[in-house]
Amino acid sequence: MARVARAVFAALALAAPAAFGADAAPQGALLPKDSTDAAVFRGGLVFANYCVTCHGINADGNGRAARLYTPRPANLRMSDKNDDYFGLIIRKGGGMIGRSEFMPSWEAELTEEQVRDLVAYLRSINASSRS
Ligand code: HEC
Repeated sequence: MARVARAVFAALALAAPAAFGADAAPQGALLPKDSTDAAVFRGGLVFANYCVTCHGINADGNGRAARLYTPRPANLRMSDKNDDYFGLIIRKGGGMIGRSEFMPSWEAELTEEQVRDLVAYLRSINASSRS
């Protein structure tokens, strides 16, 4: 049995480079930490943990708690705000910049990297940023 398993493993190991092409990244390879793709990926995880209750899993402003608030949580896919504004309202909250108090301040809860990752994520799903 062990010999069969070894043979199968050897066959897979030989076949793999051919299947993926010589210079393709091996499956499951990590994204470079400093890449935009990695930031977007991490930001999506932060968003799923902290923001979906209000803004919704699709970031369209339709979270489970959205109807409790007037004005409603913003549809972040359709936002016309720039990255600096995203960073500001996420760090300081709505009340500090003349918007709704119900948009919380996150700077005590999240790290700077998490805020930057959120901004990258929001940019990646924003309709006005797509070509
Ligand atoms: C308790 C509900 C609630 C939670 C949780 C929440 N938000 Fe908000 N958010 C709001 C509300 C309400 C507004 C709209 C404020 C207004 O229109 O004055 C808003 C507005 C925003 C805006 C401004 C968008 C624009 O176009 O002006 C951004 C960006 C934003 N939220 C990001 C986030 C992120 C990122 C998180 C998670 C870290 C989050 N929010 C969590 C309620 C929430």
